[in-house]
Amino acid sequence: MSGPVLVFDSGVGGLSVLRELRVLAPDQRYVYVADDAAFPYGNWEEAALKRHMIALFGELIARWQPRLVLIACNTASTLAIDALRKAYPGETFVGTVPAIKPAAERTRSGIVAVLATPGTVKRQYTRDLIRDYADTCHVRLVGSSNLAALAETYMRDGFVDEAAVLAEIEPCFIEIDGRRTDIVVLACTHYPFLVNRMRKVAPWPVDWIDPAEAIARRAQSLLAQGARGGTGEADIAVFTSGRADASRGHLMKGFGLAVAGAGATPAA
Ligand code: DGL
Repeated sequence: MSGPVLVFDSGVGGLSVLRELRVLAPDQRYVYVADDAAFPYGNWEEAALKRHMIALFGELIARWQPRLVLIACNTASTLAIDALRKAYPGETFVGTVPAIKPAAERTRSGIVAVLATPGTVKRQYTRDLIRDYADTCHVRLVGSSNLAALAETYMRDGFVDEAAVLAEIEPCFIEIDGRRTDIVVLACTHYPFLVNRMRKVAPWPVDWIDPAEAIARRAQSLLAQGARGGTGEADIAVFTSGRADASRGHLMKGFGLAVAGAGATPAA
């Protein structure tokens, strides 16, 4: 396909991956799709979310003919990446899944926390990553119902309640036989936007693993195999709700994206 690179998330979290990919592949054209009409993905029932995503991607692929689809969402990737590849075999998909392997390689205490949405911590995909790559570690899975929404608010309003952030991250910090958590995996693409606040309120210092750069490198290596995608057209953000208020426009502009009108939304 010769169209843009389509970067997808349930909300604005995928921008943490887009900003890395832009640096690595500045000549591509980008369409950022936020399925805000269905946000948050973290609380969806699995079968319903999978059906929803397969239908939505049918429309997105027909509309944009993307050269590559980057699912910049752990909740979506851990559930549906295999099903999407099967449903759309002509497409190149890059997913985002919890960085459990690098965490297991780096931990010194042997205690690692995976901070994610309730959906991601429940997934078999996540359990399999732990079994395959972290069987010598103690992995604490922490499902947060509120952090993605707190990150959305922070991105929009520039304010976040630090006590609320602490309440969400506190279960990551555990102590077993004198050893403490030393790595927290940010397994939701929204969370890197809050990492400075997390660092500030954390009970003790840890490494926070943000896999955005690694995911962007994977996407870039696949893009490098194809022709360049620059068409001179603007990079845009599409919201499935069709809502495009001023603060949203301002935020997207900061990431080099113009907010597209309702016509760009599938089935609008
Ligand atoms: N950004 C999404 C992720 O990486 C989750 C946000 C949501 O709950 O929709 O998992």
